[in-house]
Amino acid sequence: MAEPFRIRPTTPDDLGALALLEQGAFSDPWTSEMLTEAMQTRGAVALVAADATGRPVASVMARAAADEGEILTIAVDPEVRGQGLGRRLLDAALGELVARGARTVWLEVRPSNQAARALYRAVGFAAAGVRRGYYRRPPEDALVLSWHPSAPDGAAPQ
Ligand SMILES: CC(C)(COP(=O)(O)OP(=O)(O)OC[C@H]1O[C@@H](n2cnc3c(N)ncnc32)[C@H](O)[C@@H]1OP(=O)(O)O)[C@@H](O)C(=O)NCCC(=O)NCCS
Repeated sequence: MAEPFRIRPTTPDDLGALALLEQGAFSDPWTSEMLTEAMQTRGAVALVAADATGRPVASVMARAAADEGEILTIAVDPEVRGQGLGRRLLDAALGELVARGARTVWLEVRPSNQAARALYRAVGFAAAGVRRGYYRRPPEDALVLSWHPSAPDGAAPQ
């Protein structure tokens, strides 16, 4: 069977679709301007999973700086969640960050976001700290997670 979704670099033409993805995924979504800035930032890694028509149905944005990387945002269209796309995109972004020299990759996640926490755990992210009052709308602390290229899948519990 033909592969229904293809991972490819994000282009400026995707930004409208990505803003809609953000709105469907987050209570405090990034705007097109924020997405544009993240895409253009130095060290940016921006990938989408596109359907057969080329339309993005999932997106990840990350950045590499020196020997560190950061996952900035990841979102999958609710219609296609649970099919492995989040994992594929995250793996692709981590691979790109490592190729650019990252030896530690960081991210923040809401403690209440069980789906994302399970995804990160499955990929090998581990608890590294808490940022008090990090999120707004609704207010919530952030769990800070870290990942290292040598960590085997599911290595450490969050
Ligand atoms: C989190 C998110 C990106 C996961 O995307 P997805 O494509 O549905 O995830 P996958 O199908 O690749 O799942 C990979 C693994 O993550 C875990 N997982 C994903 N969704 C889960 C859920 N709803 N409940 C429990 N575990 C889940 C599982 O371990 C899964 O592996 P398995 O299917 O072998 O059990 C998606 O739910 C989403 O877009 N959420 C809204 C945006 C968001 O919260 N982003 C993260 C912000 S920090």
